[in-house]
Amino acid sequence: MAYNVQVCFSPASFPLFRDDEAIVVVIDVLRATSAICTAFEHGVKKIIPVSTLEEAFEYKKQGFLVAAERDGSIVEGFNLGNSPFSYMDEAIKDKTIVLTTTNGTKAINAAKNAHKVAIGSFLNLNTLAEWLCEQERNVILLCAGWKDKFNMEDSLFAGALAEQLLITKKFTSDCDSARASVHLWNFASEDLYPFLRNSSHRNRLGRLNLDKDIRYCLTPNQTFCIPVLEEGVLIKLEKDLA
Ligand code: MLT
Repeated sequence: MAYNVQVCFSPASFPLFRDDEAIVVVIDVLRATSAICTAFEHGVKKIIPVSTLEEAFEYKKQGFLVAAERDGSIVEGFNLGNSPFSYMDEAIKDKTIVLTTTNGTKAINAAKNAHKVAIGSFLNLNTLAEWLCEQERNVILLCAGWKDKFNMEDSLFAGALAEQLLITKKFTSDCDSARASVHLWNFASEDLYPFLRNSSHRNRLGRLNLDKDIRYCLTPNQTFCIPVLEEGVLIKLEKDLA
């Protein structure tokens, strides 16, 4: 039996993809899910994703380590933003971090009632594809996009992951957005960075001198970590990778 893989280009259309038995992979390549994967690779204990700044402020008042990003910048008054490089610091080891971002944490919360929510980025592409093939479940790749609109980088990653699943023949797809994302990936995979030169968020981050972040977030297979949502909190999936 083959399982179905679908791609949802924005959280706004996620209700149309409802499948309570499916695993939902949340994707925010630039930069939320890349930062989350990096944090677990560097030993963070838990990440609590919240959608609003108000919630984040409440946690801050209770003494939590809080990260908040809006429109690419760290929000004033918060310890951390969304740069993967700030999650490579020894200081985050074994810590619990509260995180709110423009799109990524909203997408995680939109998916929270799914059978399982996993975090996907180019950094954990192969290990995530391998694990999804072992789960014997339908998969929905949910792109965070930009303020509920389509974005290029998330759709490219969805194409890369969907293609890895489809070539195993353990998955098929009745979804044109999945096929479109695979075509886009095959068109751009040779040279992602130049392909994204006109994309809105690469330019937004470029204006904030965050090119280093962009290049890092487009670098595949930097970690074997798969962050998953357990009762509203992100933890590292314990899996036998032998
Ligand atoms: C987001 O959640 O929209 C992004 O991750 C924003 C960013 O980090 O630049």
